[in-house]
Amino acid sequence: MSVERTFGIIKPDAVENRKAGEVLAAIEASGLKLVALKYLHLSRPQAEGFYHVHRERPFFGELVEFMTRGPVLAYVLEGSDAVKRYRELMGATNPAEAAEGTLRARFGKDIGENAVHGSDAVETARFEIGYFFPGYELL
Ligand code: RTP
Ligand code: MG
Repeated sequence: MSVERTFGIIKPDAVENRKAGEVLAAIEASGLKLVALKYLHLSRPQAEGFYHVHRERPFFGELVEFMTRGPVLAYVLEGSDAVKRYRELMGATNPAEAAEGTLRARFGKDIGENAVHGSDAVETARFEIGYFFPGYELL
């Protein structure tokens, strides 16, 4: 196990529902360390660029619409095996299939509005961290 960084977002649904504090508390309790954090409202081009790997998927339009409808919290987490640990904390993409106690089981509504994002691999995390944070903003 190596020390890694991963990237996450508290999506507009969870911010609207005032669950951001509970998500951050769960992250802190998990032992992952916050090394950068910002609050922002994504523009359409920003959301499209972030999710470019999904541009051919049937749900892409809906996903961009959702991710731009209100502000989000974007952050970088650090810790041993951080990518996998944070994915486990989030739970499955579909909240109905997410294990009990996971962030998506607790705060997600459906497969589209699922409360949180997390990088799926170290390489993806590198792209996603760079997309939102210049190096000088990372502790
Ligand atoms: P994420 O990237 O947001 O952490 O989620 P993920 O890896 O678990 O799932 P992914 O396949 O990367 O999908 C990205 C996001 O697109 C929305 N989605 N909607 N309507 C649908 O069938 C559908 N499928 C995916 C979700 O918001 C998902 O998190
Ligand atoms: Mg993904």
